Amino acid sequence: MKKLCPANYAKVRAACQGNARQELSVAFYKHLVQEPECQEESEERKVHLLGFDLDEILIQRAQQNNPLPGSISFITLDVTKDTDRLQHYLDQHGCSHFHLCLCLAVTMWVHLNHGDASLLQLLSRLASVSQHLLLEAQPWKCYCSAARWLRKLGRSDFDHFKTLKIRGDVAEQAREHLEGHCGMELIRSFGSTTWDRKLLLFKRR
Ligand SMILES: C[S@@+](CC[C@H](N)C(=O)[O-])C[C@H]1O[C@@H](n2cnc3c(N)ncnc32)[C@H](O)[C@@H]1O
Repeated sequence: MKKLCPANYAKVRAACQGNARQELSVAFYKHLVQEPECQEESEERKVHLLGFDLDEILIQRAQQNNPLPGSISFITLDVTKDTDRLQHYLDQHGCSHFHLCLCLAVTMWVHLNHGDASLLQLLSRLASVSQHLLLEAQPWKCYCSAARWLRKLGRSDFDHFKTLKIRGDVAEQAREHLEGHCGMELIRSFGSTTWDRKLLLFKRR
């Protein structure tokens, strides 16, 4: 991660999607900032981090426990609808793009609840506001587990589960979309997490 934020970035902005783990956002922020050696460097390396999630309760909790409200903001946002608010945040900070956008373990929920077109739209929207995008897409077997879990609860299937055309190697199809339609290129694959999920880093061409 250190390589993503060399000291010559005058300013670094990061969007961290999904605040289920407010601690993750804070730890990530601290990792980006590191220990400033003097005030001047501190200003040059100023980082603003925006965390967002659909879940209002998670966001309220993150806001209440935020130790760095001057640098880290948390907002409730449905990323399938309200992406204008991301642009608004960028405008407020005088930036055209986030230097880094994290999309960790979110794709499957958007895909299952809103379908193929929304998954692709999500990737396109995040790509359009990011210089770098770190993507952890859940693999197909997670979809099957989620659908089984819903059935066990006696609930009906996710609206789109049976009709999704994007299935199988979801991460590979996400890569094809980002490279083929969003002006991004894969620059690093960090292998698989302990959850057997690929962690892919894309950069704007
Ligand atoms: C598995 S959690 C991952 C959370 C976090 N990124 C992490 O790695 O700990 C998935 C998160 O995606 C959020 N989510 C699902 N659909 C969303 C949407 N349309 N817009 C914003 N967030 C969404 C959920 O509320 C949930 O907090």
